[in-house]
Amino acid sequence: MCGIVGYIGKRDVAPLLLEGLQRLEYRGYDSAGIVVTSPKTAGLKMVKAKGRVRDLEAKVPARFKGTVGIAHTRWATHGAPSDENAHPHMDAEGKVAVVHNGIIDNASELRAKLTADGVEFLSETDTEVVTHLIARSQAEKLEDKVRDALRLIEGTYGIAVLHADFSDRIVVARNGSPVVLGIGEKEMFVASDVAALVAHTRQIVTLDDGEMATLKADDFRTYTTEGTRTTASPTTVEWEAESYDMGGHDTYMHKEIHEQVDAVDRVLRGRIDDRFSTVHLGGLNLDAREARAVRRVKILGCGTSYHAGMIGAQMIEELARIPADAEPASEFRYRNAVVDPDTLYIAVSQSGETYDVLAAVQELKRKGARVLGVVNVVGSAIAREADGGMYVHAGPEVCVVSTKCFTNTTVAFALLALHLGRTRDLSVSDGKRIIAGLRKLPAQIAEILEQEDEIKKLADEYADAKSMLFIGRVRGYPVAREASLKLKEVSYIHAEAYPASELKHGPLALIEPALPTVAIVPDDDLLEKNRAALEEIKARSGRILAVAHQEQEKADRTIVVPKNEDELDPILMGIPLQLLAYHTALALGRDIDKPRNLAKSVTVE
Ligand code: G6P
Repeated sequence: MCGIVGYIGKRDVAPLLLEGLQRLEYRGYDSAGIVVTSPKTAGLKMVKAKGRVRDLEAKVPARFKGTVGIAHTRWATHGAPSDENAHPHMDAEGKVAVVHNGIIDNASELRAKLTADGVEFLSETDTEVVTHLIARSQAEKLEDKVRDALRLIEGTYGIAVLHADFSDRIVVARNGSPVVLGIGEKEMFVASDVAALVAHTRQIVTLDDGEMATLKADDFRTYTTEGTRTTASPTTVEWEAESYDMGGHDTYMHKEIHEQVDAVDRVLRGRIDDRFSTVHLGGLNLDAREARAVRRVKILGCGTSYHAGMIGAQMIEELARIPADAEPASEFRYRNAVVDPDTLYIAVSQSGETYDVLAAVQELKRKGARVLGVVNVVGSAIAREADGGMYVHAGPEVCVVSTKCFTNTTVAFALLALHLGRTRDLSVSDGKRIIAGLRKLPAQIAEILEQEDEIKKLADEYADAKSMLFIGRVRGYPVAREASLKLKEVSYIHAEAYPASELKHGPLALIEPALPTVAIVPDDDLLEKNRAALEEIKARSGRILAVAHQEQEKADRTIVVPKNEDELDPILMGIPLQLLAYHTALALGRDIDKPRNLAKSVTVE
């Protein structure tokens, strides 16, 4: 959702900012805007457009020159997508321009007060109040004007401010929405996501909540909203600009599915300890004594990350014998859950920004719980807020629907489960067995990806379905959930996942030839039970596509995947179904990387 990018330096700013906005497109948005100025020319020039960044680009006049500027992609919250509601927002005099991510909770109250004072609003957004508050501040310095405004605001924000009378600087502030500074050579960048920066610099400073910064062409300083200087030492981003390119694939989704061999290799690298048949997870900040004191594990996440958490919970129960379960963070945070001191809470998030997950983490920490993060984006809000955790090292994921990050997260959970297991009762030989299984994963993923042509044929065969049922039992159930989500997100085919054990309690009523069933059938101790479910479906003329370790007689089609250790099978069994979703969406001509109505990171409630 919403993206911010800004630049101050010597270069022509508009093309730079438009390119930055394109890098943020993957997050999801419905309008965009840009404002530029320069220390030499007085006044701000602004263009805004509903639609895509290319629509904005088409509206930018040839003489739209400047060396300082801020730009934004907006995802509508207050007010419909329109030119007027797009950011930046300016005051009546055209002196102040603001771009904002987040939500101002007391916007209507402030708006009413400002309107009563004679301020005319040009948009329906919450952000516009910030602009007017800055414009009306009597303070002399821009930093103080912004501070005056922020004092009156309640809510979350990442903001960047440009002022015609202070065109040698950009002032930014953060509270709950990411703001990252990019440090260049006699030029500075700012963005809400490193994706917009890495083409120019990999030296970054991530602001903390309650922090502000002033960017000048050759200098930056950070301070708290109260004005106390803070020290900020730049760190180097691992991700390179090329990792954001499509690398010869037609879509990011396709690229990211195929990156899984390397990605899984990366999450394992350097972590396996053969001597003690365990793994090193230095970032957990949980010593053996503390690990042993954990009585329960609660995993929280949203969407695909929640499904990865479901798999993680099962692995933790199986390998560490600690009661564990996963719950959507969005539900958890509203049900006044009992927060137990002996429970280890784990927040899972690709982006590390999902609002509901972050809010759950903050609520847990307020109540004194220990929270770990299993996160992909280094330095993201959830990673910073957590007491410790592990990065899943999937590399940047651009497609809105998550694939490689899901797989890497499940592998990260296998590592955590092994680690917790080996501080408890998991034997050395079981530890060795799991480690051997983990090491097999990259080659087995490559084997699955080699079946792409056959899976494409299956997708063509099933693409006319109006609805599909996904079933799995115990280890297979979260796999079915995720596969069903993948299909609906990217192909818009209605899909529903059910525990195979619950078939008789309802879903059997749906079975007919027009409703294909995708069944997850691992070769484990529940194989016969799963086969019985296939029989029941077949007996009612249902079509079945099985994902299994051997051909299934009762299925019309079987995708055979390589067998790993029982506990690790769920990591692999969903991968062919990512390809199925992808090729189904392709056959239906969908916008694969940016499915309608969805955003990569849901940073609002
Ligand atoms: C959005 C995305 C999903 C993602 C979910 C959680 O809904 O469209 O693909 O799984 O957010 O995101 P996170 O970054 O927290 O994993």
